[in-house]
Amino acid sequence: MTTTADPHISIRATAIQPSSTLAITARVRAMKADGRDIIGFGAGEPDFTTPDPVREAAIEAIRAGMTRYVPVPGIPEARNAVAEKFRTENSIDCEPDQIIISNGGKFSLYLAIQAIIDPGDEVIMPTPAWVSYKPMVELAGGTIVEIPTTAESGFLAAPEDFAAAITPRTRAVILNSPSNPCGTMYDPDAIRAICDVLSKHDRITLISDEIYERLVYRGREHLSPASLPSMSGKTITINGLSKAFAATGWRIGYTCAPLPIVKAMSKLQSQMTSSVTSFTLPALVTALQSCQNEVARMRAAFEKRAGLMERLVSVWPGVTCPPPMGAFYVFPDISVAFGRTSAGGRAVDDAGSFAEALLEETGVAVVPGDDFLGCGPNHVRLSFALDEASIEDGCSRTHKWLDALS
Ligand SMILES: Cc1ncc(COP(=O)(O)O)c(C=O)c1O
Repeated sequence: MTTTADPHISIRATAIQPSSTLAITARVRAMKADGRDIIGFGAGEPDFTTPDPVREAAIEAIRAGMTRYVPVPGIPEARNAVAEKFRTENSIDCEPDQIIISNGGKFSLYLAIQAIIDPGDEVIMPTPAWVSYKPMVELAGGTIVEIPTTAESGFLAAPEDFAAAITPRTRAVILNSPSNPCGTMYDPDAIRAICDVLSKHDRITLISDEIYERLVYRGREHLSPASLPSMSGKTITINGLSKAFAATGWRIGYTCAPLPIVKAMSKLQSQMTSSVTSFTLPALVTALQSCQNEVARMRAAFEKRAGLMERLVSVWPGVTCPPPMGAFYVFPDISVAFGRTSAGGRAVDDAGSFAEALLEETGVAVVPGDDFLGCGPNHVRLSFALDEASIEDGCSRTHKWLDALS
C-alpha cells in the first residue's frame, strides 16, 4: 500500500537547525563546481593536507589488517599518547583511563554534554560562540545562558560576568579559547581569574574546547584550565586533530576528563558509534608524537595570513574588527552596511543579506554571524584558511563592494 502522508519527524529533529557554517561550505562547493569564481572565507577548515606521516600511519594500519572493532574509548597506545600530550603540552595531570577518543571534537563535545547535562540544567557560555554548542545543550534538555561580549573587549567575558550568570541551576560553563568565530583568546591570567570563580562552585563542570590551542599568534600563550589544581577535578578538556593537523575529514577528537565522566561518555559512545574508525588510531599516535614540525609550519603560515587579514580588513570603510589572536577567523562588525543598497541593487538589512549580496555580486563567501549568538547579527565570520593570493583577492573584492554601497 502506498501513502502520500509525510513521514513523522521527531520534535527533536524538527527543532534543531542545520549547521549554518557547513551549509555555507556546501554552497561554496556547489558554486565552484558550477564554474563560478568563488573566494571561500566560509569554511572552518585548514587548506593544508594532513601531514604525510599521519596518512602513512593509517595506510600502514590498513595494510597490517587493523580493520576490526577496537575498544570503545580507543586502543591503549592511542589513549597513552593522548594522555602524554595533555601531560607534556598542557600540564594536565592525567592518566590514560581519563581519555576517550571520539568521532571528531564535535562528537566529543556532544558526548560530554550528554554525560553531564540534565533537563533543566543551565550552561553558561560567552557569546558570540561556535554554532553547535547551543543545539547540543538543547538536545540534552539544557538551556544556554549567554554572557554577551563585545568587540571592544576582544569578545572576552570578565570573571564578574561568570559570577553574575551563575544560578543554582548552573551545571556547566563552556569556554572556547582561542575562539571560533571571534579569533580572540583569553590570556593565562584571565583564565586563572575565571577559574577562581568557577572553582568555588561544586556543581559546575567546565567544558574547555581547546581545538584551536596550537593556532595562536604573536607569542600568545594558551593555558588549559585543567592544569590548575583547583580545576583538574571539574574540567572536561576537548581537543582533536582537525585544526592543528589539517585533518578535518578524519573525524578524530579526544577528551580528558575526570574518570566518572569518561566512563559515562564511553557508555554513551558504546551505544552510538562503538568507537572511532580503527585505523585512524595509529595515525593519531603518529600525529601527536611525530608531527611537531608540520604543525609549526602550518601555524606559521596561519600567523602570516592573520597579519595580512588584519591589515586588509582594517581598511574596509566603517568596519571594525579586533585583531586575530588565535584560530583562523576574524569576526568584523559590518553593521555599517545595514540600511544601504549594494551596487547590484540588493537591500542590505542584516548579516544574512550582506553575505548573500556579497556572494552573488563578488563571489566572496562569508558566514553571517547570527547563529553565533550575542552581537553576532552585526558581524560576519571570515576564515583565513586559504592562500594569501586568495585572501588579497577576496578582501579587495569586498572592499570595492563596500565602497559601492549607497
Ligand atoms: C570551536 C570548535 N569546536 C569544535 C569543533 C569540532 O571540530 P571537529 O569535529 O572537526 O574535531 C570545531 C569545528 O569547527 C570548532 O570550531
